[in-house]
Amino acid sequence: MKPSILVFALLAILSPITLHAESKVTFSGDIASVVFSKCTSCHRPGQTGPFALMTYEDVSKRAKTLRSVINERTMPPWHPVAGHGEFRNERRLSKQQIEKFNRWVDAGCPIGDKAKIPPLPKFTDGWQLGEPDLIVEMKKGFDVPADGPDVYRSFVFPIALPEDKWVKAVELRPQARSVVHHAIFFLDNTGSARKQDGKDGKPGIHGMGFRITGALGGYVPGSSVAFLPGDLAMPMTKGSDIVMQTHFHPSGKEETEKATIGLYFADKPPSKKLVPIQVPPLFSFGKGIDIPAGEGEYVVTDKFTVPVDVDAVSIGGHAHYICREMKMVAKLPDGSEKSLLYIDDWNLDWQDRYYFKDFVRLPAGTEVHTKLVYDNSAENPNNPYDPPRRIRWGRQSTDEMGSMTLLVTAANKAESVRLQAATRRYTIQGVAGGNRLVAQFLKNNDPKRNFTKWDKNKDGKLQRSEMPFLLRRRYFDQFDIDGDGALGKDEVE
Ligand code: HEC
Repeated sequence: MKPSILVFALLAILSPITLHAESKVTFSGDIASVVFSKCTSCHRPGQTGPFALMTYEDVSKRAKTLRSVINERTMPPWHPVAGHGEFRNERRLSKQQIEKFNRWVDAGCPIGDKAKIPPLPKFTDGWQLGEPDLIVEMKKGFDVPADGPDVYRSFVFPIALPEDKWVKAVELRPQARSVVHHAIFFLDNTGSARKQDGKDGKPGIHGMGFRITGALGGYVPGSSVAFLPGDLAMPMTKGSDIVMQTHFHPSGKEETEKATIGLYFADKPPSKKLVPIQVPPLFSFGKGIDIPAGEGEYVVTDKFTVPVDVDAVSIGGHAHYICREMKMVAKLPDGSEKSLLYIDDWNLDWQDRYYFKDFVRLPAGTEVHTKLVYDNSAENPNNPYDPPRRIRWGRQSTDEMGSMTLLVTAANKAESVRLQAATRRYTIQGVAGGNRLVAQFLKNNDPKRNFTKWDKNKDGKLQRSEMPFLLRRRYFDQFDIDGDGALGKDEVE
């Protein structure tokens, strides 16, 4: 056969199918189901999306804009890169869905058979997981201004839990949904947050000035709440209050936030304990992050070797504005590699925890590697400084930090203790910044317990000269958060 005849023959076979499919893309037949399942959860009244996508008119009148955000993959918001970890509740559109949308817009947005437009999914505005076991509400509303910079504020729910409990899920019902960008739930069983609450005359606490004794995950608008898989649950110890750190994004209209939280408890303790593997530990505290102004590719890496077989349940990352990429890869003892999560356009506003579709088994000896890339150049649109400035490790969102956290259970329950001991050792080494002498010293001298002993002049603070020599350099500059040249008890903790 001559090539031209071959081409003709192929066209003859293919074209009727293609033409047929093309003529069939309609709102009722193809587009509505995609939009309703992938967009409407956020794009409906009272949710975070800035406009509704609930009807043919809603979608067709914005068709060109929708098409561009869909093709750029900015919507639906979903940051993990395809092929690096498989997650439940994925919000990504498939290539075919994007293709169909493009063809639909090209064809002039035909509606199709109106009677066949699928019904909107049932969105409940009540509790998504049913009636919670414990419901707590913010005591006073917090006023979020109409405009200005984003607001970070922590609110205390003074629960003082009467007994140890295990938490299967936390559901947040914000009142001002359109301004709540995300929230993280911390636990404090020392009462320290309660003491700070309202000190500046407004409900809540500015920043993070309280003790954290645990955490219960977070809330990202639009992400579906779910129970932890199997019988897994998070510990919430007796006496705990919940402290909710909230990130508000002003909407152009003044709003008052008075959130309600619902807690779902397990009937019994889980058979296996969830153990966090944070790489690098303590959000890179010991890494001496110091990023020159203009540096476009500042890399931080670290690794942890799992001592026993583990099952990875979920993964997430944390960093501030100028982080651009984060990636966690498991290097298995047999030489193979498994990419666990890769985010190539990190955005502080969309930090999420991703649950693996199936638990990922990592055999003993697997190295878990994290790579973080920071872009402190003027080209980074998220750079908080213009022109760029030197940025160092710190707790303000304009400082930097970063790590990725894998939540695992020991495959063999009896080995959980060994796993926890290894992560503790790894964390101490992290604090010591890889310095073996400092690590050894910290192991035998807990700064919290030695505070009074070291505070020779009894002024309730540790001056540089009062710090053991080995800890001076590392501890001082990074832990002196208020910059007064001495470490208060809260700073040491
Ligand atoms: C998880 C919630 C969520 C989902 C799901 C979602 N959006 Fe959005 N969308 C938002 C938010 C929030 C904004 C406001 C911009 C921002 O804060 O990033 C937005 C903004 C937009 C914008 C305006 C973008 C701009 O630059 O002004 C478009 C267009 C859009 N979404 C389309 C879609 C489409 C199409 C889908 C489904 C394929 C979708 N969204 C799914 C939350 C969502």
